[in-house]
Amino acid sequence: MELKKFIKVKEALDKKEGQVSLRGWVYRQRAQKDLVFITIRDESGIVQAVVDSSKVSEKVFEDAKKLTMESSFKLTGKLRKEERSPQGYEVDVVDLEIVQIAENYPISKDFSEEFLLDVRHLWLRSRKMTSILKIRSTVFKAIHDFFRKKDFYEYHSPILQSVQCEGGSSLFKVDYFEKPGVFLAQTWQLYAEPAIFSLGKIYTISPSFRAEKSKTTRHLTEYWHAEMEGAWITFEELQDYGEQLIKSVIKEVLDKNKEDLIILKRDTKILESSLKIPFVRMTYDDALKVLKEKFDFEISWGKDLRTIEEDKLSSLYETFVIVTRYPKVVKAFYMKEDPENKDVVLGFDCIAPEGYGEIIGASQRESDLNKLISKLKEQGEDASQYKFYLDTRRYGSVPHSGFGMGVERLLSFIVGAQTIKDTIPFPRTMVRYKP
Ligand code: 4AD
Ligand code: MG
Repeated sequence: MELKKFIKVKEALDKKEGQVSLRGWVYRQRAQKDLVFITIRDESGIVQAVVDSSKVSEKVFEDAKKLTMESSFKLTGKLRKEERSPQGYEVDVVDLEIVQIAENYPISKDFSEEFLLDVRHLWLRSRKMTSILKIRSTVFKAIHDFFRKKDFYEYHSPILQSVQCEGGSSLFKVDYFEKPGVFLAQTWQLYAEPAIFSLGKIYTISPSFRAEKSKTTRHLTEYWHAEMEGAWITFEELQDYGEQLIKSVIKEVLDKNKEDLIILKRDTKILESSLKIPFVRMTYDDALKVLKEKFDFEISWGKDLRTIEEDKLSSLYETFVIVTRYPKVVKAFYMKEDPENKDVVLGFDCIAPEGYGEIIGASQRESDLNKLISKLKEQGEDASQYKFYLDTRRYGSVPHSGFGMGVERLLSFIVGAQTIKDTIPFPRTMVRYKP
């Protein structure tokens, strides 16, 4: 074949007619006596090509017949309107070149979720995963853009850490040259707070690790965590940042990934309504009242909201719900005690619509050194291990706040995923760590 200018399938479909050269993989192939129908797939889409034995050389026709599912190949042909094709166009092949004939492709029609996870490296090529991964890419860019526009610095914390932050029970221990007390990051937080004294407002998107023993549709053991921390940021401003971040990410996806949302059959009504309406903001106390009134749930004060309760609460609204001022006893040691009620903290969870659960965990940070120390001791922690963190309250402490957003949690809602595993290329859970 002579040198050709290859274009993407989508560019070809936009071009509407004339000669095109495409390269990609066999999405489907069906051979008749004198015709071979091949759907070619690349990252931008699919289109059917027709190889007519009366219009191509014998070699091209024989090669077309050989193409198995997922074989890689190149073709040149004429794009023609075709009403019966879902794309509205077809390509009449004039030339074709095999790049590699694929072995018998293991993914056919009936497959279980577990099997698709076993062959995840191949399942990534599915139209579903391709669309989700494109949306994932948009989401990461939108998070970076949001924080950059708001003058946050990108900052990096260690993944290997020497203290816990979100509870010892979900810590992964690392075999670190046989030294004790080395863990994978659950959050950047304790290593981020020291940097606000240098940079003011900071953010990151980084992997976080949780040894979650729960096999749910919402939990990964390795997930991507978008976190921010800022000096002087008040509890009210923190809620605004959370709402604005989520809205700007959703807006970007609605703008950039229309076709992907169609491929995923995502009903975008709820995405659009969550952009238009202000997020619902209520205290934990109000949440208990609403849950009692609407669903007759009896939750005794001081219990954390369970999944079922979050889901019921979210079902009442067409947008996200920010629940503030949880009881101190259910929240992490670093959350600031509410000066107006010492039993609750200035923390919030932001809960997605449609039962997608907690997307953001947030708080103003406790600035009182002694309160922090006694909280750590209550939890059985050795406060001396936290010296580096406690020093932030010794040398020019300032009011400050931050939050963490589970990127795959937000993605699950955006794409309407059945399980969070669909939103990350190679999901890790309690039972799944291969390939
Ligand atoms: O609520 P979390 O535990 O909060 C923190 O880690 C804070 N230190 C963050 C901060 O203030 N900088 O986790 C934050 C978010 C949750 O709201 C959830 O979206 C996500 O991280 N998350 C998980 N996502 C997937 N799988 C898991 N196992 C997750 N655990 C938490
Ligand atoms: Mg949380």
